[in-house]
Amino acid sequence: MTMIFAHRGFSGYYPENTMLAFQKVAEETVADGIELDVQLTKDGEIVIMHDEKLDRTTNGSGYLKDYTLEELKMLSVGVNVKGFFPRQTIPTMREYFAWLKTTKLITNIELKTGVFEYEGIEEKLIALVKEYGLEDQIWYSSFNHYTCAKIKALMPEAKVGLLMDTWMMNVGEYAASQGAASVNACSYFGAKEGVADDLHKHGVQLQAWTPNTPELMQELIDRGCDVLITNYPDIAAKVVGK
Ligand code: G3P
Ligand code: MG
Repeated sequence: MTMIFAHRGFSGYYPENTMLAFQKVAEETVADGIELDVQLTKDGEIVIMHDEKLDRTTNGSGYLKDYTLEELKMLSVGVNVKGFFPRQTIPTMREYFAWLKTTKLITNIELKTGVFEYEGIEEKLIALVKEYGLEDQIWYSSFNHYTCAKIKALMPEAKVGLLMDTWMMNVGEYAASQGAASVNACSYFGAKEGVADDLHKHGVQLQAWTPNTPELMQELIDRGCDVLITNYPDIAAKVVGK
């Protein structure tokens, strides 16, 4: 059965990449997991945020990497979202892992090393996963395939997804050569007809982001997609029949 992952948490209704959006996945949906994005603070802490800049989702401005964790914790997240929510702050990886241990959810951690490389983030992340004993609950992904290779080198058994936002062909052969568990493709172009079949021949899964309508979800399921990464895990559950 197609698996369902909540993109940036339950971000269709709650502020993305916040503890609230993560907790709502566990409370309100039958999702199999959560997708979230990580970056590194000025003082080397792993925190959860999609953009390199603070401006869109917080009341701060400038690059996240230029602030310490203490400074970042003073900011409120979700300023771009309509509705009344308890104040949210940028979650740390530690905060998230402590909560994740109380659930059975899988987490696909997307390392945002595409703009800034965040030297050492892969080592720090693997060390934290081991510290919390979460090896079986964490998958990894990145648009930066050097990051993916680094994760595999540090933890050969890790499930790593190669993010793809191009019209690349013969991805099965490439993904298998990288020891990838999946290719995580854009629903509109990367996850075209035939891509899942090609990947499956090489023992690699297809994950698709970010289908948010029942029609697109169904189309992806029909094309053989293994995982839907969506802002609306509630809609996906109905489509999948969970
Ligand atoms: O990991 C899937 C998806 O999150 C990739 O794009 O920009 O939403 O992080 P983005
Ligand atoms: Mg992401």
